[in-house]
Amino acid sequence: MELLAVEKGKYFFDGTLGLGGHTKAILTRNREAFVYAVDKDELSIEKALKNLNKFKNRIKVIKANFKEIFNLSLPLKKIDGFIFDLGVSSFQLDNPDLGFSYSKDSPLDMRMDKSQQLTAEIVVNDYSFSELVRVFKDYGEFKRPEKLVKEILLARKRGRIKTSKELKEVIRTIYKRRRTMDPLARVFQAIRIEVNRELEGLGDFLYKLAFEVKEKSRIAVISFHSLEDRIVKRSFKRAAQDGFFKILTKKPIVPAESEIKQNPRSRSAKLRVGERL
Ligand SMILES: C[S@@+](CC[C@H](N)C(=O)[O-])C[C@H]1O[C@@H](n2cnc3c(N)ncnc32)[C@H](O)[C@@H]1O
Repeated sequence: MELLAVEKGKYFFDGTLGLGGHTKAILTRNREAFVYAVDKDELSIEKALKNLNKFKNRIKVIKANFKEIFNLSLPLKKIDGFIFDLGVSSFQLDNPDLGFSYSKDSPLDMRMDKSQQLTAEIVVNDYSFSELVRVFKDYGEFKRPEKLVKEILLARKRGRIKTSKELKEVIRTIYKRRRTMDPLARVFQAIRIEVNRELEGLGDFLYKLAFEVKEKSRIAVISFHSLEDRIVKRSFKRAAQDGFFKILTKKPIVPAESEIKQNPRSRSAKLRVGERL
């Protein structure tokens, strides 16, 4: 909130509304503030609207992908601060119907936006050998995922892999459990990123946004894994090198030990903030 300079601004944009935590923090901290907020997930929006009922005159919520911001007819040049809290929410991770988490047995879905066609089941069962290799290399940071992909293709011959438990069993035949960077977590992460096109166009989007917003407007991005953070870092750097953006966080802001204890999922979060010159 401090880095977004919430007290000084009036209009804000929350690109990842979720259950409304950040929007609420802005509206509570600045009683004059108005927040435009979007999320891809209808169910999260429904919940957020309930949580934010008290502030209903100071919010406008739209179901959309934040990358569509330029087509949403919002007063872009009026907005003082933008926040993006990337990835999935705890609410989504813990919802067994969505199949994000491998600790629960659920259908392989993983869509934030239920109106899209592509699901995790399609990725796992209908992607070719080379497409799956690409997904695990690019989004799961596996150096040589070929063995795993072969195993998945073999399992597919016996029938479609339909649940997170079935997929987990296939993965465990190749990779045993590890304490840190468990390959299981990386496989699920890779599929989730593919299904939701999470990294596609993110860097260009942030660069373009940094260019299009008004002077002194701030952009804050929280990422949750190194792939995402690298993209944010690079696009901010490119905007700064091109002379229209100032990076306010030389090093990314990370949670304190006490916050990690309270909320272990925050442990890999990195916040980067910049300002339009
Ligand atoms: C980490 S959560 C945000 C939590 C939120 N800050 C809160 O306080 O509850 C990310 C949210 O952003 C949404 N999301 C992720 N990528 C998105 C995108 N490209 N466009 C719109 N919403 C997105 C997800 O559906 C999810 O609800």
